[in-house]
Amino acid sequence: MGGLFITLEGGDGAGKSTQIEYIEKFFKEKNCVVVCTREPGGTRISEMLRNILLDKGNAEMEAVTEMMIYAAARAQSVREFIKPALARGEIIICDRFVDSSIAYQGYGRKLGEMVSEVNSIATGGLRPDITFWLDIDPKIGGVRAAKTGEPDRLERENLGFHYRVYEGYKKIAEKEPDRVKRIDATGSIDDIRKEIRSYLEELGTR
Ligand code: TYD
Repeated sequence: MGGLFITLEGGDGAGKSTQIEYIEKFFKEKNCVVVCTREPGGTRISEMLRNILLDKGNAEMEAVTEMMIYAAARAQSVREFIKPALARGEIIICDRFVDSSIAYQGYGRKLGEMVSEVNSIATGGLRPDITFWLDIDPKIGGVRAAKTGEPDRLERENLGFHYRVYEGYKKIAEKEPDRVKRIDATGSIDDIRKEIRSYLEELGTR
């Protein structure tokens, strides 16, 4: 199998990390070279930008600034890490990508279309082969996430923000059904795995 770019998306508490581990295992068992990364992050510079973005002390950050720093972190990781790995034929599993910016900055912060424009510069047109959207109602996700530690700057936003993010994901999934697979994240971990597995097997036969 050649290079494959897989992304996971969803609100807080959707259970992305558990499924990422599973997808990694799935490909390792097939002896593929598979690398997991996250956004914002994955490279030294992107991780520095991540700290700026998630720092609770940066409460005065403007929405446009936030959007551009996410895009800057992405521009760096796409060029330094993701594209070269894909060119070597590796499988990249990325926790969040451009869809997060569309949902959080485009819908959550109401920045709209400019988010896609800036991000097409950031990615140089790179798009995931497949995206799993772990769909969970923000209220349920928020309760789950609250159990796992101190909320970061984005997690501290009100429920209205998180519902706008949710609407954003819904719109993306409706617009791009071939790429974005909606997975009901309220199901059991095992059911979610099975659903993801069936999509991965389909990919293998493409
Ligand atoms: P992280 O701890 O990785 O969150 P999670 O575990 O929920 O994935 O923090 C990333 C935060 O940044 C998360 O709240 C979503 C947000 N985010 C954006 O607002 N825009 C983006 O483009 C990305 C990649 C993340």
